[in-house]
Amino acid sequence: MARLRLPTNTTFSIALIPGDGIGTEVTSAAFEVALKAAKGSGATLNSTVYDWGTGYYFKHGIMMPADAIETLRGHDAILLGAVGHPNVPDHVTLNGLLLPIRRRFDQFANVRPAVLYRGVSSPLKGLNAGDVDMVVVRENTEGEYAQIGGFVHETHPHEVAVQTAVFTRHGVERIVRYAFELAVRRNKKRLVTSITKSNAQGFSMVLWDRVFQSVAAEFPAIKTESLLVDAAAMNFVRRPQTFDVVVASNLFGDILSDISAIVTGSIGLAASANIDPTRRFPSMFEPVHGSAPDIAGKGIANPLAAMVSAAMMLDHLGLSAAARKIDSAIEGVLAEEKVRTPDLGGTSSTSAVASAVLTRL
Ligand code: NAD
Ligand code: IPM
Ligand code: MN
Repeated sequence: MARLRLPTNTTFSIALIPGDGIGTEVTSAAFEVALKAAKGSGATLNSTVYDWGTGYYFKHGIMMPADAIETLRGHDAILLGAVGHPNVPDHVTLNGLLLPIRRRFDQFANVRPAVLYRGVSSPLKGLNAGDVDMVVVRENTEGEYAQIGGFVHETHPHEVAVQTAVFTRHGVERIVRYAFELAVRRNKKRLVTSITKSNAQGFSMVLWDRVFQSVAAEFPAIKTESLLVDAAAMNFVRRPQTFDVVVASNLFGDILSDISAIVTGSIGLAASANIDPTRRFPSMFEPVHGSAPDIAGKGIANPLAAMVSAAMMLDHLGLSAAARKIDSAIEGVLAEEKVRTPDLGGTSSTSAVASAVLTRL
């Protein structure tokens, strides 16, 4: 296989899409942190802010311009806040912005780490810092999100909706292989857990299980485990400390990564990366959380998930020292147990947390 060419330049062009609700609040804080960390490593991040999202939709009737994908293609990476507004149906907003970017840029690996930090308490009893250190690797371009389907007899009492999941051998194989390679790189528990529901879904998930077995055979040093998604949901709560890399379909990975987020204290800490590992297209970095309309505009959103996502972006761009600096500044702020937003039991504002992290950089 051809070797991937890692970027060696020091100037990067970043597309910022703050989006809706708290997305705008956390993205500016995260980018400020990324800028300072990159500068400390001798790198420059040039940003272009795109005002796409529901505000744009109210003005133009679309979430982003028709040439948005072409525009984004010219950037090295995308940092996104969140999308979603209480006054517009979610299938309109999300299918108009976030989901098409993931698919068009073939960002097939959605990487969602969950770490129980020092100074953060899990809602589960008996867990100490470091006990949970796992990554959900979610297939991000097909599966249950393939957007294949339609309505028949729309609006009539006998209307029918069909939504088809699409699992390709190519799609399953590449995400499973990504998970094994990640387990090798992490060099922690050296375990990959595969999630399916093949007891009920006898085609797609049976293909997944078969592909998992065959890819696993290429990695004899990595242990494997296969769980049905219902049992996995239970075990994410019962024994989260036993997981290392978890690989799942688009929908199962979506649901499980909210569970892994909350067992490590808050969704306000959960970061994610939508990666095109081939580097043909820009990858996109965003917190796992949404636009949180219940707290939007109050200045109390936790910006740490967005900051860890920005650190993942720097890592992807080859600036791993800068990324580590952000991670350790965040670890320092959390361990100190002073400055923290209400989701972590504190009273600090988004900007107070941002200042605390910036001070430590
Ligand atoms: P959500 O993640 O926005 O919020 C769930 C709960 O977590 C809320 O109580 C919220 O206040 C809290 N929360 C989330 N992020 C937080 C943070 N950084 N700090 C403190 N508290 C935080 O999920 P939801 O309420 O189901 O969705 C709201 C909207 O966001 C919907 O329109 C949904 O479709 C959209 N959404 C978008 C994305 C995305 O753009 N990636 C992800 C999830 C949901
Ligand atoms: C996420 C979100 C999105 C998803 C929604 C908003 C479409 O929940 O990134 O986890 O399901 O992928
Ligand atoms: Mn989600």
